Amino acid sequence: MRLSRAFAVVTGGSDGIGYAIAQAFAREGADLCLVARNADRLADAAARLARSGIQVTTVAADLGHPVGLERVAAEIAGLGRAVDVLVNNAGTATFVPYLEADRAQYDHSIALNVTAPFFLTQALVPLMPAARGSVINISSYFSGKMLPGRPSSLYSLTKGALNSLTKAMAYELAPRGIRVNAIAPGTVDTDLRRRTIAAMPEDAQRAMEELVKRLYPLGRIGQASDLGGIAVFLASSEAAWTTGAIFAIDGGLTIT
Ligand SMILES: NC(=O)c1ccc[n+]([C@@H]2O[C@H](COP(=O)([O-])OP(=O)(O)OC[C@H]3O[C@@H](n4cnc5c(N)ncnc54)[C@H](OP(=O)(O)O)[C@@H]3O)[C@@H](O)[C@H]2O)c1
Repeated sequence: MRLSRAFAVVTGGSDGIGYAIAQAFAREGADLCLVARNADRLADAAARLARSGIQVTTVAADLGHPVGLERVAAEIAGLGRAVDVLVNNAGTATFVPYLEADRAQYDHSIALNVTAPFFLTQALVPLMPAARGSVINISSYFSGKMLPGRPSSLYSLTKGALNSLTKAMAYELAPRGIRVNAIAPGTVDTDLRRRTIAAMPEDAQRAMEELVKRLYPLGRIGQASDLGGIAVFLASSEAAWTTGAIFAIDGGLTIT
């Protein structure tokens, strides 16, 4: 097992991509700490993951608020374990036309998608073992690719910032031996995606589904499990010389 005895923190680990990454880590023997808001869903996820014989702890908190962020950092520090891997995955996707985006939407997008990875990583780096820490930021193809019918200024700005932050953190944390990389998924069939599609008018939903099929060279959108392999690689010593990289895991979307 490639992550035995490792301890990994996964934000947004109760559902979607975060849960799939947690499952992949569990299969490789890592103990886990999952962070999300809903305590019941966290408990369910933890119980399912613990069946593979690993230890799972949870912290229920809103990472979009400074108080929640501080509590998460304090509770993880209180566990008394070295943090080998941090996956900054919890995120929000708000699609509104640029000219209609309001301050509350802007502040929430920045708070969860940028401020939380920035300060949670800052708080957990002192808990990372020298020369072994791995930070994995979950970005998106929307950092650089825009789609018709998906007005993404709010979302794109946060994921672009996360990519820049990934490289800058990789540079600054390299002397400690801490690696920082990002995964930029294409469209993945999760609740987040289903919610944003459901919020569109019906004809726009149909047009979006048609467009998506044409856009993906590999002929399909992703499943959350498609992200597990790259996350395990980045968390493991196999990626010992990999830092500051943004991995497009997107069925070929961004080569078109
Ligand atoms: N799905 C896609 O097509 C896609 C594509 C590219 C990139 N991404 C990125 O992948 C990441 C995960 O997306 P997903 O589709 O897997 O989302 P998801 O299915 O909605 O899952 C989101 C997870 O984050 C948690 N979460 C949400 N808001 C939170 C908050 N304020 N504080 C703490 N935890 C929070 C949720 O639990 P609670 O609701 O209980 O808090 C849940 O565990 C995001 O960063 C997203 O931008 C997604």
